[in-house]
Amino acid sequence: MENNKICKLLGIKYPIFQGAMAWIANGNLAGHVSKNGGLGIIAGGGMPVEILREEIRKVKSITSNPFGVNLMLMMADVEKQIDVCIEEGVPVVTTGAGNPGPYMEKLKAAGIKVIPVVASVALAKRMEKIGADAVIAEGMEGGGHIGAITTMSLVPQVVEAINIPVIAAGGIAGGKQFLAALSLGAEGIQVGTKFLVADECTVHENYKKAILRAKDRSTVSTGNYTGHPVRVIENKFAKQILELEKNGAPKEEIEKLGTGRLRLAVVDGDVENGSVMAGQVAAMVNELTTTKEILEGFMNELGEEKKKLIERMNSWK
Ligand SMILES: Cc1cc2nc3c(=O)[nH]c(=O)nc-3n(C[C@H](O)[C@H](O)[C@H](O)COP(=O)(O)O)c2cc1C
Repeated sequence: MENNKICKLLGIKYPIFQGAMAWIANGNLAGHVSKNGGLGIIAGGGMPVEILREEIRKVKSITSNPFGVNLMLMMADVEKQIDVCIEEGVPVVTTGAGNPGPYMEKLKAAGIKVIPVVASVALAKRMEKIGADAVIAEGMEGGGHIGAITTMSLVPQVVEAINIPVIAAGGIAGGKQFLAALSLGAEGIQVGTKFLVADECTVHENYKKAILRAKDRSTVSTGNYTGHPVRVIENKFAKQILELEKNGAPKEEIEKLGTGRLRLAVVDGDVENGSVMAGQVAAMVNELTTTKEILEGFMNELGEEKKKLIERMNSWK
């Protein structure tokens, strides 16, 4: 896809990002995604600076292809993390949870492409104005922390509002959705949930099994009440949170209950008491696979779905 704007901008083969996933998206996963033609992204949010450096070096030991680091801008060590990204020659930084404005000049001067995650048109416009190279428009059907608008509604509105390329995220697990995202005007896609079951993803096997078991209504959105909505697989922990929210418990109590829960699921494999972040497309993720198969699967399915759609539409004449 040589003329695809995202492939051109970043020097990658396929316009497919592996979304950052806190505690999960390490150098091993990101390295293999990049090696196989996508853009692997290390989840840097909250990662100690020296670990971040190790994970970046891990990617570089796997491939010389471009990759990214995701920074959560509200985290205390973000300035030091940016220095590490510059020192290590990281080609792409995606940002969330805050305003990249204060760091933009420094990142751009180092030749880093900056791609913020946005969940609204207003934020997308602001990011374009301060010099972002592209944006990731993320809908509420995705896994992890989410906004309030669906991918289907958000992406075309963002595409209309700005002139830089848009990557669609949230609810994309196969060729049909890839094609739909391109139809909405996106230039590429970011995928999280589907990469959870990749062989190279080191998340606990219980987490992978929970994704494989998931059905269409298995995920819920918790945290709407505290203002930090998160999409997770419904389990004992999620039910506890939802019950507290329904009863109007103090926000501090709810936030305290959530502390350390992602780690509990990811590292310890406690998928009942931990936070099993996943998107609604978990229901469409049915087999363990490899990053190579996921990426090539997306591209092959995209071609097949495009052909099928053209045939169907032509038959309506
Ligand atoms: C377990 C998990 C953790 C996530 N953590 C982060 C994160 O640390 N930073 C971030 O920007 N996005 C995070 N996300 C969002 C993903 O990067 C991606 O945009 C999203 O998963 C796309 O939707 P999908 O799950 O439907 O594929 C996370 C998603 C999941 C499933």
